[in-house]
This record gives sequence, structure tokens and C-alpha cells, in this order.
Amino acid sequence: MKKLDVFQTLLNEVFVTFLIIFTFQGSNCQLVLQPAGPTQVNALVGTNVTLAVSFSGAPNPLVSWSRSNITVGTWTINSNSSPDIAPNSRDVLRIENNGSLTFLHVPLGYTGNYTIELAKSGLEKVSRTFTLRIFENFQSVSLNTQSDFAKEGAESFTLKYSMLHGVVEQQMWQFNGKELKNSSHYLIEGRSLVILRPNRSDAGLYSLLLTNPFSSAAARKTITILYGPDAPVVGVQPAQLLYKAGDSLSLSCQAEGFPSPITEWTFDGQILPNSNNGVLNLTNVQTSQGGVYTCTLLNTLTAEKREKSLTLKIFEKPGGSPMCSVVSVNDVSLQYQCRWPGGTPQAQLSFPGLSNNSNGAENFSLTVTASADLNKKTVICIADHPLEQNKCNVSASAPMKFLPIVETSIDLSGKIVVSISCLSGASPQAAVSWSRGNETVTNGTTQLISSSTEQLRIYSYNVSSFLVMPNYTCVCYNLLGSQTGKIQLQGPSISDSSLFPNQNGTIITLTWEVPPTAIVTGFGIQMKGPALHTKSGIVTKASSDGYVTIQSKLGSARSADIFPLNPKSTYWFRIIPKARLTDGVPSKIHRAGPGEGLSGSAIAGIAAGIPCSILFLALLCVTIYLILYCSNKKKNQQPTYPVSRAVAKTKNSQTTTSPHKLLTGGLASPPDYNRLHKNPSERTVPLPTFVPPPPVRVATTV
Ligand SMILES: *[C@@H]1O[C@H](CO)[C@@H](O)[C@H](O)[C@H]1NC(C)=O
Ligand SMILES: *[C@@H]1O[C@H](CO)[C@@H](O)[C@H](O)[C@H]1NC(C)=O
Ligand SMILES: *[C@@H]1O[C@H](CO)[C@@H](O)[C@H](O)[C@H]1NC(C)=O
Ligand SMILES: *[C@@H]1O[C@H](CO)[C@@H](O)[C@H](O)[C@H]1NC(C)=O
Ligand SMILES: *[C@@H]1O[C@H](CO)[C@@H](O)[C@H](O)[C@H]1NC(C)=O
Ligand SMILES: *[C@@H]1O[C@H](CO)[C@@H](O)[C@H](O)[C@H]1NC(C)=O
Ligand SMILES: *[C@@H]1O[C@H](CO)[C@@H](O)[C@H](O)[C@H]1NC(C)=O
Ligand SMILES: *[C@@H]1O[C@H](CO)[C@@H](O)[C@H](O)[C@H]1NC(C)=O
Ligand SMILES: *[C@@H]1O[C@H](CO)[C@@H](O)[C@H](O)[C@H]1NC(C)=O
Ligand SMILES: *[C@@H]1O[C@H](CO)[C@@H](O)[C@H](O)[C@H]1NC(C)=O
Repeated sequence: MKKLDVFQTLLNEVFVTFLIIFTFQGSNCQLVLQPAGPTQVNALVGTNVTLAVSFSGAPNPLVSWSRSNITVGTWTINSNSSPDIAPNSRDVLRIENNGSLTFLHVPLGYTGNYTIELAKSGLEKVSRTFTLRIFENFQSVSLNTQSDFAKEGAESFTLKYSMLHGVVEQQMWQFNGKELKNSSHYLIEGRSLVILRPNRSDAGLYSLLLTNPFSSAAARKTITILYGPDAPVVGVQPAQLLYKAGDSLSLSCQAEGFPSPITEWTFDGQILPNSNNGVLNLTNVQTSQGGVYTCTLLNTLTAEKREKSLTLKIFEKPGGSPMCSVVSVNDVSLQYQCRWPGGTPQAQLSFPGLSNNSNGAENFSLTVTASADLNKKTVICIADHPLEQNKCNVSASAPMKFLPIVETSIDLSGKIVVSISCLSGASPQAAVSWSRGNETVTNGTTQLISSSTEQLRIYSYNVSSFLVMPNYTCVCYNLLGSQTGKIQLQGPSISDSSLFPNQNGTIITLTWEVPPTAIVTGFGIQMKGPALHTKSGIVTKASSDGYVTIQSKLGSARSADIFPLNPKSTYWFRIIPKARLTDGVPSKIHRAGPGEGLSGSAIAGIAAGIPCSILFLALLCVTIYLILYCSNKKKNQQPTYPVSRAVAKTKNSQTTTSPHKLLTGGLASPPDYNRLHKNPSERTVPLPTFVPPPPVRVATTV
């Protein structure tokens, strides 16, 4: 029996040794102890468990069980006394007859290493050690966190499990089905899983698996990671560097985050409505809406905020076009001005031809010392606006040769008004000084100088007062030069006149001209001959020389129709120029109708006229020669007067002609008077071609 036991544990070296000793000595002087089962014992709490041993070699040895060197029970096998069990374990521990240690309804706290020692006097002690582990079934295992959400960027986030009952032999943490190990990101310690510096990729399902030899349990929890807002992305549609007033555009602002961040656009301290998903629509934008727009994103759960701004440039070009002008400053300098007001931003204005390093906005002026080389020099203003580049030019010029323009009219009180205009086309506009004879004309009631000084108006009831001192001089001057104009006023006079009969001699048309400097306010048409049978039947008393005034014409008139005439009768006509009540020298006499030699006086006139006319012709030739000679000589220096028609056209106009003050595109050249106007003594305009008026026309008949 003993030999069998020895053979059974043949593999155990100790027993091989025992066997050798036993075989050679042949006596039972050795205690033999062996486990009667595993030495690693797992037990469920509350069950009966036995650490089973068997021994041999000596009867009734002293059995002593200890746990971690503390004796929990001793007994001499089969002795009458009951086993000596540690008082706090008496309900649990029991030493069996064969030395085994039984735990009754084992509590959790009995997990440990238990050592059995057999002793018999005279024999060597033997001992064996068992490891007992007490387990409990899992019950109510749950995963807990401090808060419902983890926050990205926090130091750590801890998942911890708890349970009502259970002893863990093994635990396993999983994230989305993958096992987690200790690493730089995870720390598994005790009942906790610590996620170090959690980030958004840590969001997901965490599960825990607990096992022991008797049961297993699992718990799971979905973890949400709060994050963001990330760096916002802002943009404008359509994407442009700048926008025009009136454009429509849409701002957008987006950023990642959980939960989705709330977007808010602010401009100029105001929260803008209509923002929706970070989109802000702006329609028909105005320049006042240009500036910095700030998008604020808020994570409502973490209260994290992010901001990003963008700058909208909303531009509007100035209205109209730039305007250039030039004025004089302190009578020494020319100030070139360039104006293009309005706009956002304001246009940059500069005169690159004058200065490369000065510029301005809205209303820029550059002052330079006047010098001859600026005369007629075109100075360009460059007007730069982000939406439009524009320019204007201006040139300063000295007064040009000009002819004074004389106009006559009658004012409301019946005064003759003679206005003399001296327009020299200068830029800056010339100032004009006036003199009469040697006296300077001062502004007063009878001689009124217009505020621009370019026009002088003389008022009088009596034309004689104009003719007492008829010579006026105007001097036009600006910084770049001066020009002088001379005027010699004349009394009412006719410079030329003609008569045009119609084919059958029933109507004649008289035409006439007046010298450009003559003061004429009206005309009388006089006739000598058989009375005209007019319906109105006005009887005019004949003058001493037999002429009867048949029509009165205004100062602007230059022709008159007279009818009905008897083609068989002879008529004589003349035109009397008038300055209000004063008659001037009548025109030459025009004859209409047959009547060569019919009247005695006419025959006498012709007879006397033949030798006279020969003499006259000779004289005329000499005169023409002299006139031509003189006029050729003088032509170059002396400007000539404009035709009286030009004068007549503007007659009665009370407005002062104001020549270009602000020129947007340069100075138009002044009219070339020399080319247009001829000396009064010369024939200037071709005779009007007569178109006979229809016989029904009676309007001007007196
Ligand atoms: C454990 O042992 C005690 C005493 O021998 C006995 O009453 C009880 O029924 C046993 N329990 C089990 C589960 O075997
Ligand atoms: C020791 O005794 C106990 C109780 O009597 C018994 O259950 C066990 O099987 C015995 N062990 C051996 C090895 O005989
Ligand atoms: C039991 O003994 C083993 C070695 O056999 C040792 O690793 C373990 O820590 C011991 N347990 C206790 C509770 O002392
Ligand atoms: C993980 O590391 C900690 C500390 O280093 C340690 O206490 C813990 O036991 C380790 N857990 C695992 C499962 O290795
Ligand atoms: C902004 O404009 C876009 C496109 O024009 C449109 O789809 C969107 O509904 C508008 N949003 C709002 C808030 O008006
Ligand atoms: C301005 O610069 C241009 C080109 O560099 C040059 O031709 C011009 O003479 C300069 N004008 C002045 C006023 O210096
Ligand atoms: C002359 O006087 C009138 C009215 O008194 C005035 O309107 C005009 O501007 C004056 N002319 C000048 C050159 O001062
Ligand atoms: C006009 O003035 C002149 C000289 O000043 C004078 O001799 C003449 O009588 C005046 N005529 C009238 C109608 O007042
Ligand atoms: C006016 O000027 C002309 C020449 O232009 C001259 O012949 C005339 O004598 C002058 N008259 C007076 C009153 O000075
Ligand atoms: C000056 O302006 C006028 C009108 O805008 C333009 O026709 C002309 O070409 C300009 N001259 C120069 C030299 O730019």
C-alpha cells in the first residue's frame, strides 16, 4: 500500500528520494505528505471547500495549518481533544481525520496561501502549501463616468466600473470592439480606465468584460466627446477682392464642433439677423456696410468660443466725371484744381505733369508759380478710383486777341442800354479793367461793370451822352498776359443797304446793315411816291423832303418788305436808324419802279451827275486803293468787329455770358474773331438772296 503511493508519485523527485531511502533502510521512519488534489484551489464563496492531503509514514502526527505563517488550526490526528482552531475561524475551518482542511461556507476573506505541516516526534517535519482563491459571482456591474461628456483637450477622462458583488480574476477593456492596453493614451488601473488627453476620436462605445472561474459580466457605455469649435472657415460668395455698392453677396462661417456650434455674425457692434447656419446674405450692399465682419462660434455645452473676422470692401465710384479748372492765387500763382467728390473710397487725384509726389482726394489743388511755359500747356489730372480710372485736363492760357461786342437795348424805364463785352477766352478767366478816354470807369449806376468784369453796361436816355466820349478801352489780363480791346461807339447809322424788287414789281424788300459799334434801337422805313393802298390806312405826315415813314422796325430788324406797289409807279425808299428818340443819318436812297428820266429833277440830277460821277469814280478808285493799302497794313494788328448780325442775335439778352470757368475737358479755343469779322467799312456778308414773300403776307405793313 505504501509502496503503491510512492510509485504513484514517481515523478515527484522528493518521493523518489524517499523511495530510495525507504528501500535501502527498510523502515517507516519518514513522514510522507502529499496533496490529494490540486494545490491551486478556486472556490465560490459560501461553498464547502477542502484542501485535501494524505500522509503516511507515521500514525497520528501533529497537523498544523497556517495561513501566511499565522497558524489557523492544529490537531493531533485521532486524538480525543478537538482540533485547536483560531477563534475567529471556528465557524469556517475544520481539520479532517486525514489532515485535510475544510472550509465551510467559505467567506471571501479566506483567499490565501495555506501551509500544512506534519510533525511527529523523532521524525522530520513535512509541509505543503495550497493556494486558495475564493470567488464570487458578478452582480450589477456598471460603467460610470464623472460626467456625461468628455471634453477634448481635457487632461483625462475616467471610466470606472462598479458592482454589487463579484471577485475579478480578469478584466478587459474594449473600445469599439478593440482591446485596450496600458499605453500613452490609456491607463488601466484598478477599476478605472483613464483616457489621457481625450480627443474627438475617442468618442464611441466602451465595454468592459469581467471574468472569474465561476462567472463573467460585461458593461458598456457610449462616450461622447465634446469638441470645437475648431478654427472657423469664413468666406464670401462670390469671392472678390472688392464689391460695388448694390452688389449682393453672402458670407459664410463654419467650424467643426460637437455639438454643432452656434454661429453669430456681428458688424459694427451689432449682431446681424438673418444668419442661418453661418450664412449671412447681404443684398444691395451700401458702402456703409463695408468693414470688418466678425463671426463668433459658440459650443453651447463647453462654452468654448471662437472668432474669425473678414473685411468687406464695398466701393462706390464718385458721381460724374472729374472736373479740372485753373484759378489764380494772390495774382502770382496758378492753382490747378481737380475735383471728383464723393465715392468710397475717395478718388486719388494728382497732376503728374506738375508734381509726382503730391496728390489728394475729392478736391485736390496744386499751386504753381505762373510762368510763360504754362501758357496753353495741357495739364492732366489723373483721377484714380478702384472702380474707375478717369482723368480731366485743363490748360491755363493768356487772354487772346478779341473784339469787343457791342449790344444795344432799351431797358424797362426807357433808357438806352449799351453793353460792351470783352471776352478774351483766358484761363483763369481774365479780369477786365475799363476806361473811357483817359478815365478809368468805376462801377456805378450809369456805368455798371458785371461781377465778372467782362461786361460794361452804360445807361442813358440820351444817345448824345454816349457820343461825348465815345472811346472805351478794355484791358483783359490774367497771370499769363493781357490783351486790350478798343471800342469807338457810333451814333445810329446804317453801314449798307439794298433794295430787292420782286419780278412783277409789286413788292420790294429792303435790307440793311449797321456798323458793329453803332448804337441803334430801331429803324424807320421811309418812302416817297404814290400812297400805298394799305388796309390799315395809316396816314403819316410827310417830312419836308416828301418822305413818309411807312414802317417802324425794332433794333434787331435788318430787312423790311413793302407792298403793294404799283409796278407802273416810281417809289423812293430810305432807312432811318434811331437811337430811341434820336434819328441818325438816313441810308442812301433806293428807287423802285420805272421812272428813268421821268421827273425833271431826276433828269437834272442825272445831268449834273455825269461829270460828277466821272470825278467820283476817279476819287473812288483812289479811295479804294488807299483803303486796301491801309487795311492790309493794319490787318495783322487790328482785330476787326463782328458782323452786326451776330450782335443782333444776342441783343436784348440780359444774361452775362460767362465763359468757361470750370472746364471738364479742357478749354475750347476762343472764336477767331479775325476770321469771322471784317472791318465795318468792308462788305462782310453776301447780300441776302431775296425770296419774294407770298402776296398774302401783310404782317409788317404799316
Ligand atoms: C457543507 O458542510 C456542512 C457540514 O458538514 C453541511 O451541512 C452542508 O450541507 C454542506 N454544504 C454543501 C453545499 O455541501
Ligand atoms: C479525507 O477525509 C475527508 C472527510 O472525511 C474525505 O472527504 C476525503 O476524501 C479524505 N481524503 C483522502 C485523501 O482520503
Ligand atoms: C502565495 O504564494 C505564491 C507563490 O507560491 C505567491 O505568489 C503569492 O503571492 C502568495 N499569496 C499570498 C496572499 O501570500
Ligand atoms: C497599467 O499601468 C498602471 C501604472 O503603471 C498599473 O498600475 C496598472 O496595473 C497597469 N495595468 C495593466 C492592465 O497593465
Ligand atoms: C442666402 O442666399 C442663398 C443663395 O442665394 C439662399 O440659398 C439662402 O436661402 C439665403 N439665406 C438666407 C438666410 O436668406
Ligand atoms: C513724373 O514722373 C514721370 C515719369 O517718372 C516723369 O516723366 C515726369 O517728368 C515727372 N514729373 C515731374 C513733375 O517730376
Ligand atoms: C458793380 O455793381 C453791381 C451792382 O451794384 C454789382 O452787381 C457788380 O458786381 C459790381 N461790379 C464789380 C466788378 O464789382
Ligand atoms: C441830349 O444830350 C445832349 C448833350 O448832353 C443835349 O444837348 C441834348 O439836349 C439832349 N437831348 C435830350 C432829348 O435830352
Ligand atoms: C477815338 O479814337 C479815334 C481813333 O481810334 C480817334 O480818331 C478819335 O479822335 C477818338 N475820339 C476821342 C473823343 O478821343
Ligand atoms: C482733354 O480733355 C478733352 C475733353 O475731355 C479731350 O478731348 C482731350 O483729348 C484731352 N486732352 C488730353 C491731352 O488728354
